[in-house]
Amino acid sequence: MKSIGVRTPATVANLGSGFDLIGLAIAQTADEIIVKPNDRKELSILEITGDDGKLPKAAEENTCTVAIQSLLNAVSTVQGFDISIHKKVGFKSGLGSSASSAVAGVVAVNELLGSPFTKTELIRFALDGEYVASRGYHADNVAPCMLGGITFVQSTQPLNVISLPFPQQMHLVVLYQPVSISTAEARELLPKEYERKKVIQQTSNFGALITGLFTQQNSMIKEGLNDLIATPYRKQLIPHFDTLQQIAIHSGAIGFNISGSGPSVFAWCESEIQANEVQTQWNNYMELNEASFTIYSSTINGIGAEII
Ligand code: HSE
Repeated sequence: MKSIGVRTPATVANLGSGFDLIGLAIAQTADEIIVKPNDRKELSILEITGDDGKLPKAAEENTCTVAIQSLLNAVSTVQGFDISIHKKVGFKSGLGSSASSAVAGVVAVNELLGSPFTKTELIRFALDGEYVASRGYHADNVAPCMLGGITFVQSTQPLNVISLPFPQQMHLVVLYQPVSISTAEARELLPKEYERKKVIQQTSNFGALITGLFTQQNSMIKEGLNDLIATPYRKQLIPHFDTLQQIAIHSGAIGFNISGSGPSVFAWCESEIQANEVQTQWNNYMELNEASFTIYSSTINGIGAEII
């Protein structure tokens, strides 16, 4: 068996009302890993770059190797692998970094084992990896990272993932600020129960999001990008949240919200021109406030994980 490289995209989960259920892959940024079989019957992370030394190298702690082990258990093999991980998706950025490592690992090993599983089947192994980082079985980053596009995870047990259509001209502008937010901690902030009124409004927004994507009506997508069950409790963790939202909407974005559990935020734009305007205005505001930030303006990645 030779070595193999896999590239995986960053992802934006939740998309407002699709908390834990919907996510999309962006084209702008990606992780890469190289996996090579070894004769030691062990999973070994040789190096991790781009993480500032923050990610664990122990096989039982890294989402990549935990996911690979889950796959190896399923095929009952003790084959070992050496892994090099090159992170471009920021750790704790809200852009699906842990999912990205997990997906890359299982796609690479699956290929080296002669592809016993389809990409969709591999999602359940990647989810086992994602669990060590977020302590929850939600595939809203894993599914779009694996398959590309926009995915709706209707159920994780049994796994049922639906790829949704999306407007081809749409762009996402993503703004990241270096504030550390762990998904597990951000989940602790959320109430355990919600008022009926909120549940009904959230269900309405979610219906609007799905309808808007299928019928390509931006007015419906706009409603769907509003969230009542996570954003109100998490937005205080994100500096400049309200102003960034106002600027995005004033600049013509269809909607704005937190990417996953943050701190990244996104503006959903109907075209590249609109995205450029949001990017310029956000840039001006953040520079004026001497804030530290990175902006990605991106189309949707329709491919997901790919062998390189
Ligand atoms: N949906 C998750 C959350 C994050 O918002 O806590 C991404 O899986």
